[in-house]
Amino acid sequence: MLMQLKELTPEGLKTGHGLAGGQAPARADWTIDQGWHNYTAAEHAVWKTLFERQSKLLPGRACNEFVAGMRDLPIGPEQIPDFEQLSEVLMQRTGWQVVAVPGLVPDEVFFEHLANRRFPAGHFIRKPHELDYLEEPDVFHDVFGHVPMLMNPAIADYIQAYGVGGLRARQLGVLDKLARVYWYTVEFGLVKQADGLRIYGAGIASSYTETVFSLDDPSPNRIGFDLERVMRTNYRIDDFQESYFVIDNLDKLLDLAHIDFGPLYERIAGQPEYQPGTVLPTDTLLTRGTGSYHASKRTPAQPVTSLN
Ligand SMILES: [Fe+2]
Repeated sequence: MLMQLKELTPEGLKTGHGLAGGQAPARADWTIDQGWHNYTAAEHAVWKTLFERQSKLLPGRACNEFVAGMRDLPIGPEQIPDFEQLSEVLMQRTGWQVVAVPGLVPDEVFFEHLANRRFPAGHFIRKPHELDYLEEPDVFHDVFGHVPMLMNPAIADYIQAYGVGGLRARQLGVLDKLARVYWYTVEFGLVKQADGLRIYGAGIASSYTETVFSLDDPSPNRIGFDLERVMRTNYRIDDFQESYFVIDNLDKLLDLAHIDFGPLYERIAGQPEYQPGTVLPTDTLLTRGTGSYHASKRTPAQPVTSLN
């Protein structure tokens, strides 16, 4: 079973997001109080389980910047972190804050927060039977996965620029193109380091199973990041990625933050899109995947049976 993040699904982008139960938010920006004192011992215990098993896996797999960010934040195994304490440290380092939200929020609310250096984090934590599978990003994904990278100045500027760009892309009707860039960088990005490939994407860093799959499994493609190519590439929301895109270093993201995407949107409008596992002759391939993992999961067509 896998972690499933629906925050950026094409469906979500078209329809907007809503709270489970359809409740209207009390605040226009959808933030709530984290209510840290209301977490139960059982909820802290889920955090501890997730934290400890992920902390064992990540040395040698997470990028140096992730490890440094984690080290300098008030995050540990014993308790779900307090967003105010996180924000104090983050604010001093990169000017970001973590704000609590009840779950998925509308796209424009999400982008508005990012554009103002506020990271909206789900305040709830998954249930013990959902350790590797959840439909909405919870506090473990949002805090453990994202916040250490927000301590890095390049990522901090890049995600803010994504928020600004998201508001614009939404108006232009090209949000699906921009969302792919976020997906293949902030969520599922790999980066080259002196000793090999490392993880910087939060969707991987917070997933026990994808941490290993993304780096060690022979199945996925690992392809040098190319902005236009990524903007045309669909992604999987319900399983491991079929392709991961690799940047040379985190400062490359800072370069992306300064690009005017307007001409790019025009250039790729109407161009064919690529399936998640497609490899192009123009790709810089680091690993050509066997595709075996996803092939094994594609069920053959069922024979038509007569009802008579
Ligand atoms: Fe995320």
